[in-house]
Order: sequence, then C-alpha cells, then structure tokens
Amino acid sequence: MLKPVRSLFNPLRIRIPFLLDLILVSDSEHIKRIEASGDVDRLHRYDTGALPRWLTLYFKATRFYDVARDLWFLALESVSNPTYEKRRVYLEARVATGYTEQDVNRIAELLHANVDDEVLGYEMVQVVNRRFVGEEIPRPITRAAKNTLQSFGEALLPWKYVRAIASQQQVTNYCARTLPRNVHALDIAHNIGEVVKTTARALRMLNENLEKPVEEIFTSHPLTPEVPRIAVRPSRLDDLLLFPTRTAWTVVIYKIGRAAAKTNDLLFTFGAGRRERACVFMDFFLRFMKDLQRRLREAQSEAGHA
Ligand code: HEM
Repeated sequence: MLKPVRSLFNPLRIRIPFLLDLILVSDSEHIKRIEASGDVDRLHRYDTGALPRWLTLYFKATRFYDVARDLWFLALESVSNPTYEKRRVYLEARVATGYTEQDVNRIAELLHANVDDEVLGYEMVQVVNRRFVGEEIPRPITRAAKNTLQSFGEALLPWKYVRAIASQQQVTNYCARTLPRNVHALDIAHNIGEVVKTTARALRMLNENLEKPVEEIFTSHPLTPEVPRIAVRPSRLDDLLLFPTRTAWTVVIYKIGRAAAKTNDLLFTFGAGRRERACVFMDFFLRFMKDLQRRLREAQSEAGHA
C-alpha cells in the first residue's frame, strides 16, 4: 500500500487527459538517476510542432525559444543535434576571455551607490555580453529582456504574456541584426535575458551576504528553480511511477533549486547535478562573484577606517 501512495506524490505527477502529463521531481538522487537513464532528453529533441502545445505556448514567451525563427537555446537542444557541439565550443571560448578588474570595480561601485535594478542589469549585461555582440548593448534591449516570462504562473496573466512575446522578439531581432551570421541569435539573446533577470538578482544576494562563502549563498538561494525534460521512451523512471511516461508527451520538471538547497551542490544551481552539460557560465560566475565580494569587503573596511 505504501509504495503506490509514495509514487503518487514523490515525484508528483499531474495528468490532464489530452492536455498534459507533467512530473515534478525534487529529490536530488532521483534527478541524477533520471538524467543518467536516457529515458528523457532536452525539449528540442523533437521538432517544435511535435511537442505538446501548452509547452510551446509557454516557451515562446520566455528567453529559451524564438517562435519567429524556430530557434531553441542550447540547453534545450539534445546532444544529438548536429549544431550542439559547435555552439557549446563557441560560447565556452567567448566566456573564457574573462573579465577585467575594472569590470569588478564598476559593479562594486554601483552596488555601493545602491542603483536600481535597471542600471545594475544594464551594466552587468555589458560585462558579460559585449564579448558576443562587439558593442554596448542598447538600453531598450536590456529593458525589454527583463519582460520575458520566468514561470508557468506568469503565463496566465494575459498582459504579461503578450508583452513577454513582444520583448522576446525585440531582443532576438536585435541579436540577429547585430551578430555575425554564423552565431546563433537565440543563444546570445538568452544570455542577455539571463544576465538581466538572474545575474542582477544574484549581485544583490551577494551584497547582502558579504561574510558568507559564495558557494553557500548560491546553493541556499539558488538562482534557477527548475529545468524541463521530455520523455523519449515509455518508462516508469526506475520504478518511481505507477504508469509509464509517454514518448514526446510526458514532461519531467527537475526542481533543481530545491535540490541545490538540500545538497549544497553548485552543480544543481548550474545544472542537473552532473558536470556533463553544466552551465557554460558557471566558473566565470563564481570567480566574478568571489572577486566582487572581496572588493565589496575591502570597500566596507575602507569606509570603516575613514
Ligand atoms: C547566474 C546566471 C545563470 C544561471 C543560474 C544559469 C543556470 C543554468 C542551468 C541551471 C543550466 C542547465 C539547464 C538544464 O540542465 O536544462 C544552464 C545551462 C546553460 N547555461 Fe547558464 N545560467 C546562468 C547564466 C548563463 C550565461 C550568462 C550564459 C552565457 C554566457 C549561460 C550559458 C549556458 C549554456 C550555453 C547552457 C547549456 C549548456 C549545455 O547544455 O551544454 N548561462 N545554465
């Protein structure tokens, strides 16, 4: 009797016939096991038209999918996609060019001056994304990038939804216009959005926790709550489910934010708990945050002595 009860709630499964089949997985070991099993893959393993309708309706209002050009961000591509390797290598190489001491000092000054989120997001986008675009990213673009959706709940608010789609288009159009032809416009549009929405928030967390190790801050306050996968064969996910998943229909959501907080493992802040396919930006982010924390602490003690 116990096992079926467990299977109903852990993982939690939500099934609405003909509409959706959704599985929410929070347990860190379950996430790792499912990810390693090959029973699920990234959403764009299937052509957009073959994916559940609710999924594409939601994703077209996020920074992860461009409906006009049918482009998906790299994290949503299967490794089997022929463009995957080349795109990852390109992004890694650009991110590896790093940042300067002036970049760290500039952001420290802005935090010290307590500027608003828009200014902070704009400046941080320049630090991270100028390297891709080769010019200052204009303010209307960083402003628009803030409007894309972050959660399924937001999609239920019509004005937010419509504004998010328009903003998504504005940022991707800018990237397509400005980038060299062989660079994936949505990979870069995503990076601009990710910095505006997530990294700027992370800077505030850091500023409020100058004495805590960076690793602890960004596992106890994880930055990405969840990531999606899609079933690629019928499976009971190693006995976790009462009924098998359905190919190209069942969506599995890993609640990586909860897993990060529970395990204190940064690989859940920046991925699904494994080195394979972890975020390209992870090492840059951690180094930058450590340097910035040191700078902010120095500024604090200088102010104390003045
Ligand atoms: C603090 C901000 C960020 C956080 C918290 C974050 C988090 C993540 C997470 C959780 C994943 C894994 C997604 C999955 O398993 O489905 C991921 C993948 C990825 N991220 Fe980030 N990210 C951030 C910023 C960035 C930035 C600024 C860039 C680019 C400069 C970037 C590039 C990537 C790429 C390319 C992948 C896909 C890697 C692959 O699948 O091989 N991320 N990120």
